[in-house]
Amino acid sequence: MTRGHPPTPADGAPRAALGHAPQRPIRSFVLRQGRLTSGQERAFRELWPRFGVDWQPGERLDPPALFAADPSLRCDRPITLEIGFGDGESLAAMAAAAPERDFIGLEVHRPGVGHLLLALAQQGLTNVRVLRADATPLLATGLPSASLDAVQLFFPDPWPKQRHHKRRIVQPGWIATVARVLRPGGTFHLATDWTPYADWMLAVLDGAPELFENSAGPGRFSARPAQRPLTKFERRGQRLGHQVHDLIYRRR
Ligand SMILES: C[S@@+](CC[C@H](N)C(=O)[O-])C[C@H]1O[C@@H](n2cnc3c(N)ncnc32)[C@H](O)[C@@H]1O
Repeated sequence: MTRGHPPTPADGAPRAALGHAPQRPIRSFVLRQGRLTSGQERAFRELWPRFGVDWQPGERLDPPALFAADPSLRCDRPITLEIGFGDGESLAAMAAAAPERDFIGLEVHRPGVGHLLLALAQQGLTNVRVLRADATPLLATGLPSASLDAVQLFFPDPWPKQRHHKRRIVQPGWIATVARVLRPGGTFHLATDWTPYADWMLAVLDGAPELFENSAGPGRFSARPAQRPLTKFERRGQRLGHQVHDLIYRRR
């Protein structure tokens, strides 16, 4: 693999295919064991039944059914999936500003999930469902093909060291799983404050023109859309003087 550049599909060939014993999957996150506040503990007890979705790898979800009080009455509204929502404040703000859409939030960090559950209840939101799960198996097999209108990935862990680049969530094989769950014409919106990762994202996504079309034109970043609220990590990046890049792709 070229130094500092995204892998080609051959670089990503499974070790088993190369005659090695299977390895544990590479994770894009480190599960920090942050303590839950008493409010977050209560949120898991009292609010998880209202907003939470229990899902295990191997199961398949039916996204519209998650929002229907009576599955026979379900109406198919556009659904956005946010991967790695952090504390969820920006997801709650987007959902409040778009009551005509439904949102599925995905996060592995328990305190962040608890924080979002509290925000949803405080703001009386009914158009958000929350999963505490790893995005990678969910995208690979846990959702039907072409079932989502939009996928958003804001300020994913940048894994800045060269030896950790394999842990970046945006990889050629991974974006194919994002493409699988998006309907044709659906959008994949990414943002990062780490310029080398922005360049990496651009190379990976522009490198798959059969799956995605760059809405700003090949090789170009997008202007920040007004409907994307500031996130917690974005504010941190701003304090550090980092430039923010948005990338918006359309599923072919
Ligand atoms: C740098 S934080 C950014 C959080 C938030 N989007 C923001 O901008 O404030 C990245 C988040 O992605 C989550 N994450 C990383 N890999 C994930 C995965 N495979 N599935 C779900 N969440 C993941 C991490 O737990 C972390 O909270």
